[in-house]
Amino acid sequence: MLSGKRILLIIGGGIAAFKAQDLIRRLRERGAEVIPVLTKAAEEFVTPLSVSALAAQKVYRDLFDLTDEAEMGHIELSRSADLVVVAPATADLMAKMAGGLANDLASTLLLATDKRVLLAPAMNVRMWEHPATQRNLATLTADGVLIVGPDEGDMACGEYGPGRMSEPLAIVAAVEAALADGPLKGKHVLVTSGPTHEPIDPVRYIANRSSGAQGAAIARALAALGADVTFVTGPADVDPPSGVSVIRIQTAQEMLGAVEASLPADGAIFAAAVADWRMASASDSKIKKKNGKTPTLEFAENPDILATIAQMKAGRPQLVVGFAAETDDVIANATAKRERKGCDWIVANDVSPETGIMGGVENAVTVISNEGVESWPRLSKDQVAAKLAARIAEALS
Ligand code: C5P
Repeated sequence: MLSGKRILLIIGGGIAAFKAQDLIRRLRERGAEVIPVLTKAAEEFVTPLSVSALAAQKVYRDLFDLTDEAEMGHIELSRSADLVVVAPATADLMAKMAGGLANDLASTLLLATDKRVLLAPAMNVRMWEHPATQRNLATLTADGVLIVGPDEGDMACGEYGPGRMSEPLAIVAAVEAALADGPLKGKHVLVTSGPTHEPIDPVRYIANRSSGAQGAAIARALAALGADVTFVTGPADVDPPSGVSVIRIQTAQEMLGAVEASLPADGAIFAAAVADWRMASASDSKIKKKNGKTPTLEFAENPDILATIAQMKAGRPQLVVGFAAETDDVIANATAKRERKGCDWIVANDVSPETGIMGGVENAVTVISNEGVESWPRLSKDQVAAKLAARIAEALS
């Protein structure tokens, strides 16, 4: 239910604007108050009169409408809402947001708001796939903007692919999730994820097979419980979840820097597969073959991020969770690791190739804490994440 919630709905100019009218109905059915804002282009697709009638509200259209400024300035308008929803979010609106432009009412509200923003993108498939739009999407996601969709399917322009605006009920579900007062509301949780890449020279690097799937699932599950999540990720195969603040790094040293810069945090979950070693000194130029002689790589040890944070004298997160990917003596090794690193819990798993866990969709974990050893059944990585997030919520309550 959304009763008592106030949603500022910015309708962009695209054929999907007609679906925004149904969205208004669906949000109001659930008790939300919807304040509609139309861009100039949106008025080509839906009329202010029909939007106003459906919302039972005045429609805001012009930045320089002085009556509105006297009644409610645009700053106030952007802040009095519980959530700002942009549906459809056009390529143009996304570009304006990513660039911080404020040259009409919609973009000004989006720049001035201090509330979460949820975008439902809708555009032609080529426009969606264009590197500029994908760049803007990455910027917006990193800024903590929430995204729902787009869906894949036939488009009004006759093409097929991703670009259709999500159906109104899917947007409503995303609105409800964004406004949910979960048990982790007000808590800041840091999650590291993915592999690190340690350069050998400008074109080669040391890496590992971590896909980042478990870390991304944990970040998503924590955000779904209302946490304010900072997601520090190496170059992973899976995309970061929406609704979290993303910091992308390459190396272990950069990951430590990003983690330290993101403190204080109530909880820190170290799911990343950090390279233990980097090159003692990476070559500035590509290492060349030298008539039959093989190069010798000299390593230096990387900082142990988990141990560094777990052993902080002041400002240590209340809950520090490490992972142990082992191939033998899983529980004994993980128990020793918990002691050595000084973390509160270790989530251990067997990553022997025959388990199919590394890079797969399932995981079988054992949680080791001061309360003992608890083995969970083999579950999907999403289910492991949900169970772990619920545990974290309990520990931080
Ligand atoms: O020592 P090991 O790599 O097995 O420990 C795994 C745990 O430690 C994981 O939680 C991983 O994210 C973390 N770790 C770290 N920094 C390192 C190595 C591992 O944070 N340099």
